[in-house]
Amino acid sequence: MGEKLLNALNIDKSFVGVHALNQVNFSLSSGEIHCLAGENGSGKSTLIKVISGVYAPDSGEIEFNGRHYQKMTPIEAINQGIQVIYQDFSVFPNLTVMENLALNSELADKRKWVNWKRIREIAEESVKKINFKVDLDALVGSLSVAEKQMIAISRALMFNTKLIIMDEPTTSLTKKEVHRLFEIILKLKEQGIAILFVSHKLDEVFEISERFTILRNGEIVGTGSTKELDQKKFSYYMTGREFNPSHFIPEHIEKDALFEARNISLEKHLRNISFELHKGEILGITGLLDSGRSELALAMFGAKQIDEGQWYKNGEPVRLDSVRDAIGQNIGYVPEDRLSEGLFLPQSIGDNIIISEIDKLTKLFGVMDKDKKEKEIDHWMKELSVASPLASNACQTLSGGNQQRVVLAKWLACNLDILILNGPTVGVDIGSKHDIHAILQNLARQGLGIIIISDDLPEVLENCSRLLVMKNGEIVANINTSTSDEKTIYSYML
Ligand SMILES: Nc1ncnc2c1ncn2[C@@H]1O[C@H](COP(=O)(O)OP(=O)(O)O)[C@@H](O)[C@H]1O
Ligand SMILES: [Mg+2]
Repeated sequence: MGEKLLNALNIDKSFVGVHALNQVNFSLSSGEIHCLAGENGSGKSTLIKVISGVYAPDSGEIEFNGRHYQKMTPIEAINQGIQVIYQDFSVFPNLTVMENLALNSELADKRKWVNWKRIREIAEESVKKINFKVDLDALVGSLSVAEKQMIAISRALMFNTKLIIMDEPTTSLTKKEVHRLFEIILKLKEQGIAILFVSHKLDEVFEISERFTILRNGEIVGTGSTKELDQKKFSYYMTGREFNPSHFIPEHIEKDALFEARNISLEKHLRNISFELHKGEILGITGLLDSGRSELALAMFGAKQIDEGQWYKNGEPVRLDSVRDAIGQNIGYVPEDRLSEGLFLPQSIGDNIIISEIDKLTKLFGVMDKDKKEKEIDHWMKELSVASPLASNACQTLSGGNQQRVVLAKWLACNLDILILNGPTVGVDIGSKHDIHAILQNLARQGLGIIIISDDLPEVLENCSRLLVMKNGEIVANINTSTSDEKTIYSYML
């Protein structure tokens, strides 16, 4: 690692009624990849804004590149080589790539007119620095999210940049795009640029960062080399709670299956799939993205029609040709992308919870029984501890973890026998993730049959007593999780 680049000393910052940063000490060297983590509201963005001159701290000081500052202005920060890439990338869709790249230079230089020839040269140089192949005259609106991010990074590189701060850069990227971003980050490191990136995803922190700092309620609760970090410490730093992940084992399993798949086939996606699910059991299904795991989930929920095979429920053959069929068999499905498929975000939390129950509540009189409706909503919000003061608040005001609880509540209000979850904790913060696991284990104890489809191996190992591994549309292993480990399972997946 290079020389000390940034030293923030005893930074304090309050807003009305909130102590956002409490005596924060933070340091960073040139060429260092540093992850800043913390739950929502822990103070990450405020710290970034203090470092980049957007906020003046109430007290404390900043040392950057050997110079001391009580407070920096944003222009000073840019001129000193500090660049921030915000979550929305601050790009303008109706301008060209070139115009977007030129924007900051104009601001920083405060020139009356723009030397386009020179800016084009600098722009070409900076996109080259990250091997980003783009037409400088294309409209930014026509580009993908990942490309917009590349523009933001290229723009940051047009200055004599020493530190690039990225606020949750991977939020809307695919796995492949994340990989590409990490390659770029490593390239920037080689050029001696320090990267401070905000994330609360443990796997990303491990993969890319050399050092980490974790904030909780405005205080630094952990900092150090990523090598010394493990899942348990990370969870504790983030939440202040100790989690003792216990391997879930059902108390007793009935001999007869609750649900059975026999020789299910679906085009090239599923071949000869057979398995049983018992009452009170949490069954895991894992595999790579194209293994057929998602098709199997959709087929069980009647959203994809099978070509061959037979489903059974309580020993009787049943048809699952449509979602209506599946719901009729008391099967619920929590999709991978709860935001587009599972919830109506602008609608209230309450309406989302009872949406699939409306049939039931209106049946008798043809109108919704208001008292009953409110009771149901209240019951499920409490049961799943949805953190919101009002059921009438819109679902989009909730955090990812709480939205996922609403999806669960929605299904549980329907009196299910079987609940299928595809990626139940993707994009959910770590505390909620543990809570959701506890909820699922509790539901299984009450007799629900649960299927978790997930490529998060610690998740399936912890919660599922049995795990099916899929590959190329087939089940290649049926594993007893108490006698297996991640490495073994991974070897079946690949
Ligand atoms: N401009 C502001 N005015 C009032 N309160 C704020 C402001 N910015 C942040 N806060 C509060 O400060 C705390 C830290 O917020 P923030 O730094 O945005 O956290 P994070 O980025 O970790 O989610 C939160 O309680 C937030 O509500
Ligand atoms: Mg933030």
